[in-house]
Amino acid sequence: GGDGVLAGRHVVITAGPTREALDPVRFITNHSSGRMGYALAGACVDAGASVTLVSGPTALDVPAGVERVDVQSAADMHAAVMAVIDSADIFIGAAAVADYRPATTAADKIKKSDGDTSLALTRTRDIIADVAAAHPYLFTLGFAAETTDMQASARSKRERKKLSMVAGNVVGPEHAFGRDDNALFVVWDGGERELAKASKHELADQLVALIAERMAAEVGL
Ligand code: C5P
Repeated sequence: GGDGVLAGRHVVITAGPTREALDPVRFITNHSSGRMGYALAGACVDAGASVTLVSGPTALDVPAGVERVDVQSAADMHAAVMAVIDSADIFIGAAAVADYRPATTAADKIKKSDGDTSLALTRTRDIIADVAAAHPYLFTLGFAAETTDMQASARSKRERKKLSMVAGNVVGPEHAFGRDDNALFVVWDGGERELAKASKHELADQLVALIAERMAAEVGL
């Protein structure tokens, strides 16, 4: 609490990967480290906000002052967000939520056979799009992690999901995931800004300043 550009605000942040179970011992996941989301959680606390961090499995320590809710699957993350979102002023979707989950989760370990096999996948729900649709006056920040056409995809993702702001970043073996530095291309309604390569902590501070700036500008519209 106290002073700071987000004083009195409640921020809900998703971070990390999700795990989509095939059976009791196997799951589908991705390379997200959770670092960007955790850095944002710390930066929001430093800016005076109260922060709920809905986190998939990561190796990170929870930043001081942050309330963490641990989840595994995309469905768990969706439910945990919806349970706390009514009191939020800002939602940040920094999680790398699985787009698909196994169509069925076996109760027992699936046995191998000598032949090949295939896996039926079904879509997960889009958490940030559902949040934005249900709470049109909430400030929403999403990410667009792409290997190609990052800027165009950041712009179109913002419009398609009806978000206040999208931060695009290039991902791949040489970029972003698991590293402590990153560069961001930030888009909002009527503006764009490039945030030069910096540590995820420095970028989190810059994003928080930009969120506060855009929220103040929206009130003034
Ligand atoms: O569509 P795409 O997955 O590229 O969008 C990325 C953004 O959407 C991120 O902010 C991510 O946290 C959010 N997202 C979500 N729920 C999903 C998929 C993505 O909140 N099921």
